[in-house]
Amino acid sequence: MTLSDTKRLTFRRFDEKDAYLLFQLDSDPDVMKYITLGKPRTKKDIRNNILPKIIKSYDSTSHYGIFSAFLKLNGDFIGWFQFEADKLIPGAIEIGWRLKKNYWGNGYATEGAKMLVSTGRKLNRLIVAQAMIENKASIRVMEKAGLTFAEEFWGDYKPHSGKPDVRYELKP
Ligand SMILES: CC(C)(COP(=O)(O)OP(=O)(O)OC[C@H]1O[C@@H](n2cnc3c(N)ncnc32)[C@H](O)[C@@H]1OP(=O)(O)O)[C@@H](O)C(=O)NCCC(=O)NCCS
Repeated sequence: MTLSDTKRLTFRRFDEKDAYLLFQLDSDPDVMKYITLGKPRTKKDIRNNILPKIIKSYDSTSHYGIFSAFLKLNGDFIGWFQFEADKLIPGAIEIGWRLKKNYWGNGYATEGAKMLVSTGRKLNRLIVAQAMIENKASIRVMEKAGLTFAEEFWGDYKPHSGKPDVRYELKP
């Protein structure tokens, strides 16, 4: 089971051979600006920690996990979309996204986010998303997918920005 295709995007699960795809994302300080405050991840960290965690995310139920996203047009890897049980709110689904910089600004995140929202709505679940308060692009994507501001909170972005994170949500 993976995420449903959108007009321009198709998705699949990451597997053990995909560390190089995650490296394309997480080695870019601009991509990581509002995640690690710009600290790039090393190949070793991705191979030993990040990728195994993603692969483990497929264990819990067939719908859940972090899925790689590709352009239908040419098969380019553009990044990933997340659809997972929220760690803090029982029953809620956390959605998220991370795209390679050269694909920003084309509406891809919004396109994927709308699909995540409609998937969560079919399951009749509270949908939540979080971001550093200064991550305006990601917050805009949440809004365009139909989520609204829920709260500021001290989240798990480490190191966080010294400011609270924001949670957006869409009730079932
Ligand atoms: C967040 C991210 C996924 C957005 O991807 P994207 O494909 O460029 O998003 P979209 O094109 O669908 O939409 C972006 C929206 O944000 C707006 N935006 C972009 N930068 C902005 C900024 N600095 N301030 C305000 N709005 C901004 C765009 O104008 C657009 O809104 P609009 O259509 O109303 O004009 C991408 O920037 C990214 O991968 N960033 C790094 C990883 C990350 O931060 N992930 C989220 C962690 S919470």
